[in-house]
Amino acid sequence: MKIFENQDHKIIAGDSLDVLSSGISDNSIDLIFVDPPYNIGKNFNGCKDKWATDEKYLHWCYTWIDLCISKLKSSGSMYIMTSTQFMPYFDIFIRERLTILSRLIWYYDSSGVQARRYFGSMYEPILFCVKDYNNYTFNAQDIMVEAKTGAKRKLIDYRKNPPQVYNSEKVPGNVWEFARVRYRMDEYENHPTQKPVALLERIIKASSNIDDTVLDPFSGTFTTSFVAQQLNRKSIGIELQEEYVKIGLRRLKLSEEYKGEKLQKQIRSFETKKLQQQNAAKLNLFNEKYDRTSIHR
Ligand SMILES: C[S@@+](CC[C@H](N)C(=O)[O-])C[C@H]1O[C@@H](n2cnc3c(N)ncnc32)[C@H](O)[C@@H]1O
Repeated sequence: MKIFENQDHKIIAGDSLDVLSSGISDNSIDLIFVDPPYNIGKNFNGCKDKWATDEKYLHWCYTWIDLCISKLKSSGSMYIMTSTQFMPYFDIFIRERLTILSRLIWYYDSSGVQARRYFGSMYEPILFCVKDYNNYTFNAQDIMVEAKTGAKRKLIDYRKNPPQVYNSEKVPGNVWEFARVRYRMDEYENHPTQKPVALLERIIKASSNIDDTVLDPFSGTFTTSFVAQQLNRKSIGIELQEEYVKIGLRRLKLSEEYKGEKLQKQIRSFETKKLQQQNAAKLNLFNEKYDRTSIHR
């Protein structure tokens, strides 16, 4: 286990089970966002996300879920993701331990694979749970979205006396539409299951306050810690793969180098082409100038 930190943010390179067992105090975390491997065969830098049996996967998950719960403060909240096929097991396990307040759907407008003989997957489930349903943070005002009835249709509520236009804003419902992170997007990092900044912004704004501590035990590209930093929260991110830890160190500006390697964002193929075109243009300008100068001499 190796720790990189400044005053407010901590990146822990290691196995989250070890770190949760011995590296984080109980009852110390305000918000946990968990986006674990889904047991669907993704490739995390050479490490295959597939357990020998479903039971083994679930047993592993139940171990870290219990550990996460012990790290939450009594007023804490947890958002937890997994694949659609395993979420029902998570739901049954968690509802014995926490109060599940919302069963969220993160919906996106394109499936990774275009299915031809079944219906393609266009969503991922998220559970929103709290330890104490009488005492938890929920900053409704910070996450309001447009309410079409009032804002667009301008409908009047005649049950009110006097009648009045419906609200133009509302707390989002439980289906959230955010685009998946695509190769050409600015926020893209080299990781197969990076979550969008917009998704984490809604979660962190709703369920934590400034200076609260947000924990992500499977950090990947450290989207959670990155957004926590932008929103003036503290963060702890855990990740097993060194390649992804390097992304976190760069994204959080915790370090400019790692083991002597300068940390830089990977240049994407379209950026290489653009760079080549810019260099060629510069060279042309230089040649033109040089040619003119030589004619005038
Ligand atoms: C679904 S991804 C998380 C993606 C992340 N939410 C993001 O926005 O980039 C799961 C991550 O868990 C990491 N991981 C898998 N097993 C782990 C373990 N035992 N301890 C810590 N990290 C682990 C994988 O390397 C992978 O990056």
